[in-house]
Amino acid sequence: MSKIRIGVIGAGSISEMHLKSYHTNPDAELYAICDLNEERAKAKAEKYGITHIYTNYEDLLANDAIDAISICTWNNSHAQISIAALEAGKNVLTEKPLCTSVKEALEVEDAVRRTGKTLQVGFVRRYASNTRIIKSFLDNNELGDIYYAKASCIRRLGNPGGWFSDVDRSGGGPLIDVGVHVIDLCWYLMGRPKVKSISGNTYKKLGNRANVKNLAFYKAADYDPTHNTVEDLANALIRFENGASILVDVSFTLHAKEDELTVKLYGEKGGAELEPQLSIITEKYDTILNLTPQINNLSFDFVAGFQDEINYFIEVCQGKKETLSPVQDGVEMMKILCGVYESSEKGEEIRF
Ligand SMILES: NC(=O)c1ccc[n+]([C@@H]2O[C@H](COP(=O)([O-])OP(=O)(O)OC[C@H]3O[C@@H](n4cnc5c(N)ncnc54)[C@H](O)[C@@H]3O)[C@@H](O)[C@H]2O)c1
Repeated sequence: MSKIRIGVIGAGSISEMHLKSYHTNPDAELYAICDLNEERAKAKAEKYGITHIYTNYEDLLANDAIDAISICTWNNSHAQISIAALEAGKNVLTEKPLCTSVKEALEVEDAVRRTGKTLQVGFVRRYASNTRIIKSFLDNNELGDIYYAKASCIRRLGNPGGWFSDVDRSGGGPLIDVGVHVIDLCWYLMGRPKVKSISGNTYKKLGNRANVKNLAFYKAADYDPTHNTVEDLANALIRFENGASILVDVSFTLHAKEDELTVKLYGEKGGAELEPQLSIITEKYDTILNLTPQINNLSFDFVAGFQDEINYFIEVCQGKKETLSPVQDGVEMMKILCGVYESSEKGEEIRF
């Protein structure tokens, strides 16, 4: 079988994980790269031996030699680029979030239906080994029905600045940026129940605290701390039609003692912690057991997770597998994220 020819659109920070993973995959050929910033695109092209360089994504999509693309641009362009790529006959892996509104999400879903191509949403944590291990326990009903999940992704200092902190380009702050990962993980592992109501709060109290010294954090390729229109903190209680619920809080900055990443699931027969470390909680012969799987990495391994996601996407492009993170799940996640913002704005619970 010939190699899947890849175009990567957006050559900033996260593109490196995509490029490196395609480069390692023997069935993929890095064929084209595009960024509004030509120097940035050229630098990646040189590093990875990519022969076609663009500054306009439409020109890249017009190249019929390209089979599939990765979208690593600002959130506000994901929908537009996805739809154009699907219409150009390419399979698409788009970074999370799928887009910035439910309306756009439905338009992307419609394009997938019309074109018959696949769009994989970059819910990279679904592809990670700790998630796949828990998923196999859940699929074999080892933990029973999961009726409650709790997730936190607290950065005491970590507003990435640039487009991330410009609501017009990002669609929001920590909720849409990192909340999307942890909410999606809980929702996916709970069996994707239908959302019933959401009560959410967002706060803009601390700004980006660009004044703080001696503490490093993730930054946009074009870091600029002068413009900040996103929330610092969001929390939510999400209720589902089957009675299950998720409690979540996420921040770009907070007067917390330390950063915190937790993803915990509670079921009728057992529980599980994905983060900070994979652990399975159960009961046998009247005794509670905390089980620690003996695996290489007990928490999310960034490099391995992206490699797994990209390897999976290549198999999807080859027609060997169905994606684990289809567009429909991206749409549901947009309903939830936008629901949290709407509830916060109205100051009341919203119902679906
Ligand atoms: N899965 C993860 O864990 C993860 C982590 C970080 C970022 N991301 C996602 O990846 C995306 C990019 O984030 P980043 O950290 O790399 O940002 P970044 O600012 O470092 O890079 C974005 C790049 O996209 C380019 N760009 C923007 N619009 C473009 C367009 N229309 N055409 C061509 N190029 C365009 C910019 O010039 C920039 O070089 C975002 O959607 C973000 O949410 C995902």
